[in-house]
Amino acid sequence: MTLDPHKAADFVQKAVPGFAPRVGIVLGSGLGDLAEKIETIASIEYDTIPDFPASSVEGHAGRVVLGRLGGMPVACMQGRVHYYEGVNPQDLALPVRMLKLLGIEILLITNAAGSFKKKMGPGSLMMISDHINLTGLNPLVGANEDEFGPRFFSMEDAYDPTLRKHLAAVAKELGITLHEGVYLHYLGPNFETPAEIRAFKALGPDAVGMSTTPEVLVARHCGLRIAAISNITNLAAGMSKTQLSHEQTLECAKIAAADLESLVIVFLETLKRELLKAHIRSTENGVH
Ligand code: HPA
Repeated sequence: MTLDPHKAADFVQKAVPGFAPRVGIVLGSGLGDLAEKIETIASIEYDTIPDFPASSVEGHAGRVVLGRLGGMPVACMQGRVHYYEGVNPQDLALPVRMLKLLGIEILLITNAAGSFKKKMGPGSLMMISDHINLTGLNPLVGANEDEFGPRFFSMEDAYDPTLRKHLAAVAKELGITLHEGVYLHYLGPNFETPAEIRAFKALGPDAVGMSTTPEVLVARHCGLRIAAISNITNLAAGMSKTQLSHEQTLECAKIAAADLESLVIVFLETLKRELLKAHIRSTENGVH
């Protein structure tokens, strides 16, 4: 049975009558602190939302926080569920569709990831320009939900080029180095073997992680604009002497967390100005 995003969205909307988020945010492993910066209107535990798939992973709080960040009305998912938790892949469509029904236009995704490049070590930030979905899984497999989007759709420029330009400009303004590259989604839950990492290098990725592509596929299908940033917590398996572990991921996620927070907040402030300008232009042209 497919989960019903309408029930979930209605439930959340009742908690924040009249509030319409414009940007959805997904916070990855060890990045949940950004939610503390939100001027919160309501914070709703996933397990109270009808049909919402809950995450069992440490470092993923499991609540949606609604309020303002950088002046922008946002709905922030503090924690996410992953394929490797054993859920039905189709269930991963629910959170993004719920956000879409609440009114978001843009989805900003964060994750923790390993790096394929020695020069992009732990503590680096990488804006995602494209992805390779190596899991063979996809939340959109099954009957198409025509209400949300077409059966077949393009993934070219799925990571919105204009949003990427804005992010790069904000990073420059803040003096933060923001790399750009391709994210490879590995199913997990184990980290990759060194032999796998050597083999994957031939595919041309820059970072590897265990999330993000489900949200991107669902968001793209329903016409959302997407921006995504990886917080690099380690060099990929076999590239350094450190043995990979979730504790290490959580610990190293802290290195760039402050930079990531400033980047996201100033990005939202910039976006608010841009959306306002576009609104003024459209009303001046008589388009409403
Ligand atoms: N591989 C997969 N997922 C990850 C990694 C990694 O090296 N680091 C953080 N999440």
